[in-house]
Amino acid sequence: MFNLGEIFPNIEAETSEGAITLYDWIGDSWCIFFSHPRDYTPVCTTELGRAATLAPEFEKRNCKVIALSCDGVEDHVAWIEDIKAICSNLSTFPFPIIADKDRAIAKKLGMIDPDEKDEVGMPLTCRALFIIGKDRKLKLSMRYPATTGRNFDEILRALDSLQLTAVEKVATPADWTTSKPCFVVPSVSPEEAKAQFPDHKVVEVPSKKQYIRSTSKFVK
Ligand code: BEZ
Repeated sequence: MFNLGEIFPNIEAETSEGAITLYDWIGDSWCIFFSHPRDYTPVCTTELGRAATLAPEFEKRNCKVIALSCDGVEDHVAWIEDIKAICSNLSTFPFPIIADKDRAIAKKLGMIDPDEKDEVGMPLTCRALFIIGKDRKLKLSMRYPATTGRNFDEILRALDSLQLTAVEKVATPADWTTSKPCFVVPSVSPEEAKAQFPDHKVVEVPSKKQYIRSTSKFVK
């Protein structure tokens, strides 16, 4: 297991698109690295389909996507045809799926769900998702159980927030999207806030503390 801010491990992997070394494959991009429990299962099929449909959005954000499960390359390649078929506008599949039959990568990355097992009692991967920055550091992680599919609009929204807050001294509020204002971070002094975010407004609150400073500087 590793924490936010730590360097994401470089790994060698077999994928549906051939062998890769993760860092070389990522290059100078952000990366979403996510696992699912099994190929040929309904929720996983919808998740991979949704991620594939959003490929142009990830590309716009210079973010590469890679998936992983405990199945082998042959299963991945055949299952991709099912995913493409349920996403009617998908002629090619836009990202590789890592094969991890011996769970070596999943164990190293803390992606195992001990409660989900295959027919011979081997544990399966949970629905883990990591967002890795260009600096190779872990920016966000989530783990969902097998029975709960993820919301990929939320993943895209979180990526937008991570990419904005990586370069600007702001934080994005609950349910933020790029069309909404965000907040100047508490560590910015009132003088610096005036200089950097001339439009910002201090929201009045009963405590009279001036900690909610809203700026529309980055509204799209
Ligand atoms: C699914 O993707 O539908 C699934 C996978 C493993 C356990 C339960 C559901």
